[in-house]
Amino acid sequence: AAAGPLAGRTVTITAGGTREPLDPVRFLGNRSSGKQGMALAEAALAAGASVNLIAAAVEVPAPAGVRLTRVETALELRSAVLASLAESDVLIMAAAVADFRPAQVAESKIKKTDDAAEPVLQLVRNPDILAESVLRRADTGGPAVIVGFAAETGDPDADPLTHAQLKLKRKGCDLLVLNVVGRDLVFGSDTSAALILAADGSEPLPVEGSKREVAEAVLARAAAALNP
Ligand code: C5P
Repeated sequence: AAAGPLAGRTVTITAGGTREPLDPVRFLGNRSSGKQGMALAEAALAAGASVNLIAAAVEVPAPAGVRLTRVETALELRSAVLASLAESDVLIMAAAVADFRPAQVAESKIKKTDDAAEPVLQLVRNPDILAESVLRRADTGGPAVIVGFAAETGDPDADPLTHAQLKLKRKGCDLLVLNVVGRDLVFGSDTSAALILAADGSEPLPVEGSKREVAEAVLARAAAALNP
């Protein structure tokens, strides 16, 4: 068996961005590259864990040695995550999940015709998979450690730390990794600057470096929570 701080543990990681279909050829998507999720999968393998990787749209390949489930939409990602709860020791929600999806998916391609009015998109809310996983873990005996991500766009009027602390409480997860997203920062980038917040009240841990370094810090924190 593998050695390392996560030997004998199962870590489920979601990666990439969901795509919410509008019609057979179009979707609403986002700029997530999946690089942070892949870095987490690599670091979890290196720490000795069995890794379940649930990947939405990604720009980078999955590392060899993971159990890979491909998904497209938030609802598919939800099903895959809920199915993994019972066997997981750690759940890391690194995926960028669409908050909304089109209320209707057209059966054929939406066409522009001279007489038709411009289409109006109606959206409905997607379930919050992270919050739901926290609620269900008591029943499933599921992940002892649940990690969320928060990408804040650095709104000059908002204090990202306060906002992230509120999000950690609201979602009920154990750790929250706060990224401040600039136009070129974080999404698609190989480097990241993050702050790891913990529900146990310990000091926020700043991490700056490659996405792999951020991943290692997150997993070290998760392993410490599993093996106190
Ligand atoms: O609320 P917000 O989208 O900022 O929270 C981000 C965190 O919540 C991420 O960990 C993301 O994977 C997760 N999330 C989720 N389900 C959603 C939206 C976000 O699990 N519908």
